[in-house]
Amino acid sequence: MRAGMIAFAVLTVAFLVVSLPPYLSLDPAQSRVAPRADYPLHYPLLWAHIMFGSVALVTAGLQIWPWLRRRYPAVHRWSGRLYLFGGVFPGGIVVLGVAPVSTTGPISAVGNTMLAVLWLGTAVAGYRAARARRFADHRAWMIRSVALTFSIVVNRAWILVYLGIFSLFGPVDDALITAAAGASVWTSWIVNLLVAEWWLLRRGAGRFS
Ligand code: HEM
Repeated sequence: MRAGMIAFAVLTVAFLVVSLPPYLSLDPAQSRVAPRADYPLHYPLLWAHIMFGSVALVTAGLQIWPWLRRRYPAVHRWSGRLYLFGGVFPGGIVVLGVAPVSTTGPISAVGNTMLAVLWLGTAVAGYRAARARRFADHRAWMIRSVALTFSIVVNRAWILVYLGIFSLFGPVDDALITAAAGASVWTSWIVNLLVAEWWLLRRGAGRFS
């Protein structure tokens, strides 16, 4: 468990250090995702999504840290509220204005839109379970939610894997990059969700604290 927590923290920090800087200037010209000229809200929504996503990613790490949860339950409650109301809920809603017009084609667009809907749905289910004091259900839904949040980090590794595989069969052109982007979006959240389900089955929803 400790090794898993350290890996989560290191990968999260590495992802944020590499991904965030182009967006801190608020300059659309620095964006790695080319803002769409025909859609003025594209960049503001993408930017807001990245800021809320960063809050979600950092607080997700705090939420799944067993020591913090046991030792400081009040911190767990407050960072949980921040995860939901300062991260997943606003981040998931604004990304619904970005995902369907993905710059990397329809396969990415559908995969990211499904991810956004599941991201919101699992978080709503986790919040409702906590309010109803169904804590085993709450933990299970939050494990699924965090698995989806973390899919953005593993996505970067999957895209390299797919670029490597696809380039064995053809030239590295725009079509190949679009295919690798689409495949990596779907793979990252489906595999993360399957790992979460495996974890829940193995440990039992109420027994992993
Ligand atoms: C889990 C739900 C998420 C969904 C559905 C989602 C969806 C998207 C979409 C659609 C884009 C635009 C890419 C394109 O046009 O194809 C994007 C970009 C981006 N997202 Fe997310 N995202 C999610 C979570 C996160 C989280 C938690 C972060 C953490 C900071 C994040 C950070 C970013 C960054 C940095 C970009 C810009 C890409 C780059 O600069 O390389 N996303 N996301």
